[in-house]
Amino acid sequence: MHKITLIPGDGIGLEIVESVKQIFAAAKVPIEWDEQLIGKTAFEKTGKLLPDELVNSIKTNKVALKGPAETPIGKGFQSVNVQLRQLFDLYANVRPCKNIKGVQTKFDNVDLVLFRENTEGLYSGISYYDERLEIADSISRVTKRGCERIVRAAFEYAHKNNRKKVTIIHKANILKHSGRLLLEAGENCKKDFPNLIVEDKIIDNMAMQLVRNPEYFDVMVTSNLFGDILSDLCAGLVGGLGVVSGANVGDEYAVFEAVHGTAPDIAGKGIANPTAVLRSAILMLEYLKENELAHKIDAALIKVLSVKENCTGDLGGKSNTAQFTENIIKNLGS
Ligand code: NAI
Repeated sequence: MHKITLIPGDGIGLEIVESVKQIFAAAKVPIEWDEQLIGKTAFEKTGKLLPDELVNSIKTNKVALKGPAETPIGKGFQSVNVQLRQLFDLYANVRPCKNIKGVQTKFDNVDLVLFRENTEGLYSGISYYDERLEIADSISRVTKRGCERIVRAAFEYAHKNNRKKVTIIHKANILKHSGRLLLEAGENCKKDFPNLIVEDKIIDNMAMQLVRNPEYFDVMVTSNLFGDILSDLCAGLVGGLGVVSGANVGDEYAVFEAVHGTAPDIAGKGIANPTAVLRSAILMLEYLKENELAHKIDAALIKVLSVKENCTGDLGGKSNTAQFTENIIKNLGS
């Protein structure tokens, strides 16, 4: 039995996480959930965006599944997601983006995995505002260790999953020191993985190449800000934020989460698409070495997604969250 911290979060988080709970129960996944609050919901109940109970739960269970969370904007709060990633040193944000049969997009064979450094760069939290001069500084701090471990994580993933190519994405022509650290990490890693093709691309060129010819790319690794932007671009290539999974992984802890937000425009209406959080939960099962169950649930999900009418409204279908969930459960045995 795996004990997992479950964080439904805010907005549609409650609805989509409920869907995962029902599907996992029907598939008889050996999991005991330890449910915890985060974000706005937590703040209203406990006065904290990241309550101690949640932090202690992750410390104990080591693995969590998380829905989207809201951080009040402009009130001096640091993003709960950034806090969580830094607190548990979840340095690798892993975003697989693969075409799904039935989800129509401009391309047919996109199969990308983006590794985004998750704890440093412009998101280090080092920022100042000079009231007198009215100047805002957001410092991008990048360490050699940070570059080495994210690049190595990408290479190791590529090697273990029989991938062919790793692309290192940077802006070393302008951001000379931080770009160099990332490229040097790539040079060092290359020696240990002679079977992998290694390329590097400058971020702006990469953005253009990705929208023109995404099928060319395979595993990619980059810094925090570039990864944040490119990961949504990659999601757009395979059907949007409603269908892609995400994992935040460190050496000791892992937090799996959908990459979309709390969708306040549709929260409470029962129409949210639970695919992204379900696919993140499937990634979590693989991490827990429950590969057979992961495959079974994934197969049921893909079967439902392959008939457009059975999808939720964001994918042009007619199902609400509950109908979509029931349909997946019905297909678990097939
Ligand atoms: P969003 O992802 O919540 O919504 C963007 C659009 O996509 C909306 O039209 C929404 O209805 C739609 N959408 C998103 N997920 C969907 C789903 N599962 N099914 C159907 N439609 C879906 O982005 P937005 O509006 O920029 O952010 C809203 C809030 O979410 C903000 O407070 C933001 O800080 C937070 N957020 C939290 C994240 C996290 O916890 N990982 C990530 C991104 C945003």
